[in-house]
Amino acid sequence: MLEKRLRELGQDHIARLLSDEADPITRERIAQDLETFDLEFVIRLTRGKHLYEPPGGVIEPAEVIPASFAASDEARPYRAGGIDLLRSGKVAALVVAGGQASRLGIDAPKGAVAVTPVRRKSLFRLFAEKILALERRYACTIPWFIMTSRENDQNTRDYFRRNAHFGLVPGNVFFFTQGMLPSVTEEGRFLIGPDGSLCMNPDGHGGTFNALRASGSLEAMDDLGIEEIFYFQVDNPLVKVCDPLFLGLHRMTGAQMSSKVVKKADPDEKVGVVTRLGNKTVLVEYSDMGDDVRLARSTDGELLHWAGSIAIHAIRRDFAEAITKEGASLPFHRAKKMIVALGPDGKPIGIEGIKFETFLFDALPSAAKTVTLEVLREEEFAPVKNRTGIDSLDTSIMLQNALFSSWLKQAGFEVKKGVKVEIGPLFALDREDLASKADRIPRTIDRDTYLG
Ligand code: UTP
Repeated sequence: MLEKRLRELGQDHIARLLSDEADPITRERIAQDLETFDLEFVIRLTRGKHLYEPPGGVIEPAEVIPASFAASDEARPYRAGGIDLLRSGKVAALVVAGGQASRLGIDAPKGAVAVTPVRRKSLFRLFAEKILALERRYACTIPWFIMTSRENDQNTRDYFRRNAHFGLVPGNVFFFTQGMLPSVTEEGRFLIGPDGSLCMNPDGHGGTFNALRASGSLEAMDDLGIEEIFYFQVDNPLVKVCDPLFLGLHRMTGAQMSSKVVKKADPDEKVGVVTRLGNKTVLVEYSDMGDDVRLARSTDGELLHWAGSIAIHAIRRDFAEAITKEGASLPFHRAKKMIVALGPDGKPIGIEGIKFETFLFDALPSAAKTVTLEVLREEEFAPVKNRTGIDSLDTSIMLQNALFSSWLKQAGFEVKKGVKVEIGPLFALDREDLASKADRIPRTIDRDTYLG
């Protein structure tokens, strides 16, 4: 039956591997893979259905709360509101860590990459310490949800276990696994990997929504009394986890999904931009932005569409529930990727294939109300994406170091040139926190120093 259907769908090479004459191990693997996704749906994807289409209509700049707001008196009640949310245990942290990290080219989960300037703590350790510091500061529990993929789930769990969950209560750390989809050729044929199974890829960070529901995590959140989800990506060590001001603004304005943005460094920076289309908030990917939008300037010469997303969102739990009720229907994006697959002669070769992924930010237009908050890039964004050059480990370490040095200098300490400094979250979570620890810091920092 399945073999016949595969043949009808142009996947005769896969049907052949399911036949009685095929190698039994391969047969077993392919049969298992085919059970993990909706075949008819994927075939529709390969035929151009359910795909993302750039929004039609006139795109306007989003309404953004400027970064200067954070220091104003008006910010106080919102920050207090965010703190109240944390104190009352209504906030969960959620990190997406299911990506393949192909640009970085590592075997281990990306969260295990040693990323801090002096102690070389891993991303997961760093986030765990930030959560722990907040739990101590606000006498609360912040459940942490970690999205993995089938490829890295076991390694990620093992990594946490080996490190005693970095001091967090293991029962407050929840792993859930996202869906996978087959990668295909330009013609829509499935690819076979060197191990004889289908080449599959995680279904994008937009898969978070369906995975939250399918894994029972939304229910678990409900049981825990969680009302708001603080979402971030695994590769940004500068993320202010559960930032009270952001949470407060999101909550007190009745937003369902909110975003943090920074000023785009230049029109060609490859980040998505938060924009407005009619009464909807829409994040437009760099690659979907025509020159007219990308290069547009306001009368004062500033970029019109400057609000670059740093992939930090606050999401109401009931919004995640509502949009997944009938299965989240985020559109799929096609990405061309080099995939190692078996060639016609059965030997592994690099094939330019297609990956289908959904993006979390495509849920923004479904939110009746959103908040967009500008933050300072140098304080909150230092992603590790590439092996070298821009957004690499080197640039991230440099940015972290620069931020910690600026905290110290502002608090009146001298940091000698060329010296690396790192301030652990459990020592100080922010500038204000650091000032209160002044008596534990040497006046002059003249060698690489870790404050922890
Ligand atoms: P990226 O788009 O940077 O992808 O993901 P990546 O997989 O980490 O790296 P490349 O593109 O292969 O080099 C941004 C964030 O979204 C997560 C990643 O783990 C990262 O935190 N992500 C991405 C998922 O959780 N699942 C996915 O399917 C894709």
